[in-house]
Amino acid sequence: MSKVKTSFFCQNCGVQSSKWVGRCPSCGQWNTFVEEIVAKEEKLIWKKPGGKKDKTAKPVLLQEISENTERRIDIPDKELHRVLGGGLVPGSLVLMGGEPGIGKSTLLLQLALQLKNKKVLYVSGEESELQIKMRADRVNLKNEQFFILTETSLENIFHQISELNPDLLIIDSIQTIFSSKIESSPGSVSQIRESTAELLRFAKESSTPVFLIGHITKDGMIAGPKILEHMVDTVLQFEGDRHHVYRVLRAIKNRFGSTAELGIYEMQGAGLREVSNPSEILIAQREEILSGVAIAATMEGVRPLLIETQALVSSAVYGTPQRSSTGFDLRRLSMLLAVLEKRCGFKLGAKDVFLNIAGGIKVEDPAIDLAVICAILSSNEDIGINPKIAFSGEVGLSGEIRPVTRIENRISEAEKMGFSQIVISKYNLKGLDKSRFKSIEVVAVSKVEEVFSILFA
Ligand code: TYD
Ligand code: MG
Repeated sequence: MSKVKTSFFCQNCGVQSSKWVGRCPSCGQWNTFVEEIVAKEEKLIWKKPGGKKDKTAKPVLLQEISENTERRIDIPDKELHRVLGGGLVPGSLVLMGGEPGIGKSTLLLQLALQLKNKKVLYVSGEESELQIKMRADRVNLKNEQFFILTETSLENIFHQISELNPDLLIIDSIQTIFSSKIESSPGSVSQIRESTAELLRFAKESSTPVFLIGHITKDGMIAGPKILEHMVDTVLQFEGDRHHVYRVLRAIKNRFGSTAELGIYEMQGAGLREVSNPSEILIAQREEILSGVAIAATMEGVRPLLIETQALVSSAVYGTPQRSSTGFDLRRLSMLLAVLEKRCGFKLGAKDVFLNIAGGIKVEDPAIDLAVICAILSSNEDIGINPKIAFSGEVGLSGEIRPVTRIENRISEAEKMGFSQIVISKYNLKGLDKSRFKSIEVVAVSKVEEVFSILFA
């Protein structure tokens, strides 16, 4: 009997080592090496039917590469269509990550059912056929050519694929798939890497698009080696707060399109619904003016988005004041508070500050700074801000209001949403044709101090 061959793998980055080491030499993480059984066998699982594989690739002239292999498949789901860069590229491998229960399986099931006249194979290693059927009934869509396979063995999956010849393959999830070629357990680094490599080969050689669902770890990374993200063509992230109904689909990497695109969905009783006008729902419609509320004109990718920011400032009851924030970087909040303290003389050091971005959406656009500052000031003074004013500007360390990108789009969106005033940075005025905006007044400021007079005039 031959000796079982084992090797050590970093569970963080996937680096292989012949002996155990405490600190990964590649990614620097501690205590991430786990012993896994590897059986070295050079047999490939996926074989192109019929064709003898030409082993050596030959150089090709750029102009001789035919374009029709790149024809994209239209996706009925407008949001996903856009995030993928305008449809699905044949032979592409797309990895979708997200927290448990966020709706990954639902989104891809809906996609599969919407693709009429396409043969779709949905491989589930997590749920039974009945569970998937129940979900399909729930989302109330029908595709006559939708096949479900509950299988985790990669060999069997490929066997079924060669029988069925699907137009689209969905794997839910990559962590449950295992290949008998490798003896370590499903979900381990070497299994994930091998399975993905095989699926990648299948996708490229058969020109079938493949979706992989991937679990994420507690710090938000896709579980498994980092190289997984390098192997695939597109990495999508499905995020949101499970307690809210809104979900955001982002492209983190996309070989076939921009990563600036973003899709917004609402989780309803009957599945995920595309949200085509997000600004309308992210601003609470209310009668009275409340203190601590300011509207930010942000951009999510290339889409303008008006978002409500809410702040609550109160005297700290206990020794250390609390700072808490949802949807906004806590360190950035601390920085903004320090700017208010230092440049404007607001004594916020002994106050609790809570910040909340409506809809459970995470905002990374720095243009939200100005609205955050205004919400904090409004709560601190307990004076409400006119709900017809929107804000868009980054705040610098010396209290200056810095310009932001795509200011025209932001102003137009605010105008469209019925705002009568928008506060922006003075430095954004250069080249801006104010006369374009008929029903909205553009107010330019250069320092945080100037904002007060506008707010509490
Ligand atoms: P699911 O797609 O199973 O999430 P994931 O695959 O990312 O783990 O979605 C799970 C949640 O979505 C579940 O908590 C119930 C909710 N849901 C709805 O609210 N409405 C629906 O129509 C469906 C199908 C699910
Ligand atoms: Mg799932």
